[in-house]
Amino acid sequence: MIKRKVGVLISGNGSNLQALIDACQRKDYPAEIAVVISNKANAFGLTRAARAGVACEVIDHQRYESREAFDDAMHEMLERHKVEFVCLAGFMRLLSAAFVRRWQDRMINIHPSLLPAFKGISSHRDAIAAGVRVSGCTVHFVRTEMDVGPIIIQSAVAVLPQDTPETLGTRVLEQEHICYPQALKWLAEGRLSVQGQIVSVKESTPQNPTKASGALINPLD
Ligand code: GAR
Repeated sequence: MIKRKVGVLISGNGSNLQALIDACQRKDYPAEIAVVISNKANAFGLTRAARAGVACEVIDHQRYESREAFDDAMHEMLERHKVEFVCLAGFMRLLSAAFVRRWQDRMINIHPSLLPAFKGISSHRDAIAAGVRVSGCTVHFVRTEMDVGPIIIQSAVAVLPQDTPETLGTRVLEQEHICYPQALKWLAEGRLSVQGQIVSVKESTPQNPTKASGALINPLD
């Protein structure tokens, strides 16, 4: 099987990166991680990448005079590793319009809410404060606005009366670790098409004739 080369951008713990590393280690998974780039030297995700023998690089945004210059350095690194797709996995920097354009429909992000609800960095706190009964996670194509873009997959999680942002976040994260490898699999297989805000998932090949759906998923069909 031809594995498509993926670059993963992180800023922290990298548990979603780990889920992608684990998926990519499967022989029948259609992607491999060519490089992990962190904008923070102390991101634990770098240790995860090193442990798995995946190339990792630190590109510290503080060392660049503009967002564009930082993004150019990342773009160069991704090109150097012949990356075809980019996954943002807890990457906590806004990206310039030029960078987003360069990776249009080849760059995806995971966010811990059912978008378009609760964008931003306090999704779980905001979901609990709003009194919603259901939250979850979303993988979507990246557009210039933060946490906006055509939705590939979502998974819902009940919000319980006793939930804190931490307890809700833990359950949502479990779903993130299922959704992200699934979304990347579809992307790497060339099964996603985007029209405006709508993403369609093509059925898989005759060897594996399951129907795909971007909601409440069947893992890895
Ligand atoms: C994840 O919950 C991810 O959805 C979120 O950051 C966390 C990173 O965790 N991303 C965003 O909020 C992006 N807007 P991880 O480093 O353990 O994967």
